[in-house]
Amino acid sequence: MAHVNEDYLKLPGSYLFSEIARRVTQFKIENPQADIIKLGIGDVTRPLPQAVVEAMKGAVEEMGRQETFRGYGPEQGYDFLIKKIIENDFLPRGVELALDEVFVSDGAKTDTGNFQELFAQDNILAVSDPVYPVYVDSNVMAGRTGPVNQNKQFDKIVYLPCTEENGMKPPLPQTRVDMIYLCFPNNPTGMTLSKEELKKWVDYAKENRSIILFDAAYEAFIREEGVPHSIFEIEGAREVAVEFRSFSKTAGFTGTRCAYTIVPKEVKAYDAKGKAYSLNPLWLRRQTTKFNGVSYPVQVGAAAVFSPEGQKQIKEIINYYMENARIIREGLKNAGYQVFGGINAPYIWLKTPGNMGSWEFFDKLMKEANVIGTPGAGFGAGGEGYFRLTAFGTRENTEKAIERIRTKL
Ligand code: MLT
Repeated sequence: MAHVNEDYLKLPGSYLFSEIARRVTQFKIENPQADIIKLGIGDVTRPLPQAVVEAMKGAVEEMGRQETFRGYGPEQGYDFLIKKIIENDFLPRGVELALDEVFVSDGAKTDTGNFQELFAQDNILAVSDPVYPVYVDSNVMAGRTGPVNQNKQFDKIVYLPCTEENGMKPPLPQTRVDMIYLCFPNNPTGMTLSKEELKKWVDYAKENRSIILFDAAYEAFIREEGVPHSIFEIEGAREVAVEFRSFSKTAGFTGTRCAYTIVPKEVKAYDAKGKAYSLNPLWLRRQTTKFNGVSYPVQVGAAAVFSPEGQKQIKEIINYYMENARIIREGLKNAGYQVFGGINAPYIWLKTPGNMGSWEFFDKLMKEANVIGTPGAGFGAGGEGYFRLTAFGTRENTEKAIERIRTKL
């Protein structure tokens, strides 16, 4: 008899965005005429930048010729891409990295979900509440979180409430934790931390020998000066942090798949006797065993993001989405909503009117305005009473959605 992994049975029935898709599909069946606008999942709508398309075409041609054909690539990613990542995304911010500290992958979701494998089962993890569900669910699957309690929270997770009172910035844990998931600019609240605020986390991690798993997938959307783009801009972070980055939202790669993770060699976890182990060779070991790398044409496409034309084109795309963010933010404010985020992030976090539950607001918005968003409660108990809209729609749909919210709700 095969035994099921009972940790899977502790998970909500479906992944948040699959549940939303299910409800939308059902609504469409019942209302085939409805002109639905999706501002739910953070999926991009602008096409790939032309520089990327041209580079990928060339790479596909190379793969079709005997002289230039390539089979398996290095699991960690090609040096030509890793060099460009370091030179463009890190050196200008004073962050030096070795080539073998960068691991190219097919997604930040993949990496944030998988990285927990390197930690022992009895580690205590801390997450913001609300939180991107992948950090929690992947640890539930691994059996690290204990049972679910009445608040629909896991007994062994330390939740760090992000509330209006604390400016949606997670407080330091009251008890010692081993693994800390931080995401800035934040998904779902769209908020950021200053260097001083982030430094408190680095100091906490150093004092407690904890590790920060820093998700920076939205760093390209930071508009304000002085907001850190990478945790490695903070002194001492190389000893305690791993950082996840992505081409998905920055360069339209949600359907193309390319991301990378930085694992500095100094980041260490300990065995039961207190002996230190660098996570970098362990992550390499994990990746070489379970992953065969991102396809060559996709890596060539990602490298083209860093060409002068690529940089110009992605700036235009990012500006386009951030103008959507402004339209949503200001439109909602003018309509009397209380809104957060949307300044350094492509997400707008709003308070549901009249203390309405977030799934209730989801249904109302879908039925009355045919607009789809993401219920805050899907990001954890702390998200109840809030709702997320993304700036990744088309301009036309974004304007239409706000107009409908203004007039129909
Ligand atoms: C979101 O909507 O939160 C994102 O699409 C999640 C993701 O990138 O996986």
